[in-house]
Amino acid sequence: MSTFQIDTSASRAHPMPEPMRRLTVPAIRDRKRDGVTEHPIVVLTAYTARQAQLLDQHCDILLVGDSLGQVIYGLPSTIPVTLEMMALHGAAVVRGSYHSVVVIDMPFGSYEASPEAAFESAARLLKETGAAAVKLEGGEAMAETVDFLVRRGIPVMGHVGLTPQAVNVLGGYGARGRSDAEAEKIVGDAKALEKAGAFCLVVEGVVEPIAVAVTEAVACPTVGIGASVRCDGQVLVTEDMLGMFERVPRFVKRYGEMAEMISAAAESYASEVRGRTFPGPEQTYQAK
Ligand code: KIV
Repeated sequence: MSTFQIDTSASRAHPMPEPMRRLTVPAIRDRKRDGVTEHPIVVLTAYTARQAQLLDQHCDILLVGDSLGQVIYGLPSTIPVTLEMMALHGAAVVRGSYHSVVVIDMPFGSYEASPEAAFESAARLLKETGAAAVKLEGGEAMAETVDFLVRRGIPVMGHVGLTPQAVNVLGGYGARGRSDAEAEKIVGDAKALEKAGAFCLVVEGVVEPIAVAVTEAVACPTVGIGASVRCDGQVLVTEDMLGMFERVPRFVKRYGEMAEMISAAAESYASEVRGRTFPGPEQTYQAK
């Protein structure tokens, strides 16, 4: 089956909304004009086809984040996430979406060694998934790589501030930009990535004045997470905002209580199976 279609006769997945022209990377980049973003960019993470179908019509970008390491695979951090995992989930999200730009995270170890290594990994992700762009973490040190990819046809979303793949260097997931030196570095990182050709920048886990300073310092849009309402767009991990986890960072707003719903549904099912009331006549085939 093609990466780009859903065979509705063989799958529960119906193409909703109806197929439409996808947003493009240049359209996202052009949302910010002369420092102003009239329509903030809506980004959510997606890891599966069905999730993508449900989110697609509400979003501008679906981000196949390496946060899937913790959210889907129960890993302790994003460090063990592989290129293969990103390719498989990325392809599923492209299959489930028609409207949003799909951006895939480059996992730790797949791009840092050299621009050439990054190109090989990013090209594999785009070829195997049909996604439009990749995201990579890191600032000035990654500028040469971003330039290398963009010049060779691979749009790049940057990621500055708290960069979870660097947890072992940073020593944790606390907010960044509290000291003047750190604040200056984050703004410098953002400027270097923009100059290298990044079409958009995720600004994660920074004190609000730094998020505002970065947003004002770069011409490309910023997408905040734990940053500021004054960023040009916002991103959240979908499972966090749906209430799938008891413990979430303080910057997460819960827009649903899915964990409670799932647990309650499983409890009802278990009780009916144990009480021999499921399956009932409606769920049972009878001989003619
Ligand atoms: O991996 C991820 O989901 C991310 C977002 C939180 C920005 O990088």
